[in-house]
Amino acid sequence: MNERTPNWLRETWPPKPRGYFAIGAERISKALNLGNLMRSAHAFGASFTFTIGATYQALEARADTSKGQWHLPHYNWAKVEDLVLPEGCKLVGIELTEDAIDLPSFYHPLRAAYVLGPERGSLSEALLARCDHVVRIPTAFCINVAMAGAIVMYDRVKTLARFPERPVSAAEALRKTSS
Ligand SMILES: C[S@@+](CC[C@H](N)C(=O)[O-])C[C@H]1O[C@@H](n2cnc3c(N)ncnc32)[C@H](O)[C@@H]1O
Repeated sequence: MNERTPNWLRETWPPKPRGYFAIGAERISKALNLGNLMRSAHAFGASFTFTIGATYQALEARADTSKGQWHLPHYNWAKVEDLVLPEGCKLVGIELTEDAIDLPSFYHPLRAAYVLGPERGSLSEALLARCDHVVRIPTAFCINVAMAGAIVMYDRVKTLARFPERPVSAAEALRKTSS
């Protein structure tokens, strides 16, 4: 948002779901990816972002052109044991594992912290053990970590915010646009 942002976008858009969420990553190593993730988090309405064991290079987060790190609190924990979440906040791991829940079938907790894995590797066993749920995006192989985060945040907003129902057929879509 800046001085050129129209009022409708400033005041009423996008619809806000109830609850809150945070998003973070374990052992993230690239500033570009962390910057992208923070920018999307800010845009989708996250309350805070976090990293666990991020490299110094990643934390520079120079790629974040919305300066998301200045608008949202960011916690940087050194190790999994240091992670502290607000009471009642569910930790949701995002990982492509066999026993994960498919994202389209997942009910997002109203209070949730989503955590992604590193560019090379996966969420650690220690972190997986702390997760209340593990969710996977239906892709044939791993996608970029910031992209995966954006898809999960989009799915949360899409399912928890109050949008008008999608038309169930082409005919209904046509009726709606012509009325
Ligand atoms: C690029 S992937 C990690 C590399 C991957 N483990 C590999 O075998 O090359 C980085 C992170 O993005 C997230 N991710 C990517 N694709 C995903 C998917 N389809 N479902 C869930 N998480 C995914 C996970 O958090 C993962 O740890």
